[in-house]
Amino acid sequence: MPFRTILLNGKEVTAEYQAIGSGASESSEILLYWLREQFGQHGPRFGCGLAQCGACTVLVDDVPTRSCVVQLHTVEDLAEVRTLDGLSHDEKDPHPLQREFVELQAGQCGFCINGMIMGSLGWIEGRIAGGDRSVPSEDEVKAFLSGAAPGNTRNYICRCGTHTRIVAAIRSAAEEMAR
Ligand code: FES
Ligand code: FES
Repeated sequence: MPFRTILLNGKEVTAEYQAIGSGASESSEILLYWLREQFGQHGPRFGCGLAQCGACTVLVDDVPTRSCVVQLHTVEDLAEVRTLDGLSHDEKDPHPLQREFVELQAGQCGFCINGMIMGSLGWIEGRIAGGDRSVPSEDEVKAFLSGAAPGNTRNYICRCGTHTRIVAAIRSAAEEMAR
């Protein structure tokens, strides 16, 4: 079986993956299962499997990516992959997004929260890297979650309907991240 090496949360890791065919006809195991099964990354979830809900989101080279539809042979060697598992494990010093989602009780069942946090992490970091350190307005966050923000065409779905609290949590975290 072929191997892939990535930088997973800053650490170089290698594992084999399943693939069939070659060249244009090659297909292979999806990134989501590979991360979960080879490296115990249980932040990203399988929701729809169709790139529609966001539950499986990871950052690949800083870009929020639906890992449920990414086949391993399309991932560059040494791609930088960040997962929710790579954020803080220190309850006393969580990442601002983790803290605000907990403090504002933005999750109900919690299934969507991986996508909400990793998607907004990539979005907020992108805004800051582009020189925009303003706190996103409610409308800007809603546009982001619905896939209508500049540079983002993906929506993020919460089936429990905690969107109002999610919007508030993202805005609070963005304010802290931009300081
Ligand atoms: S599980 Fe990947 S977008 Fe829904
Ligand atoms: S909290 Fe249940 S899907 Fe969002």
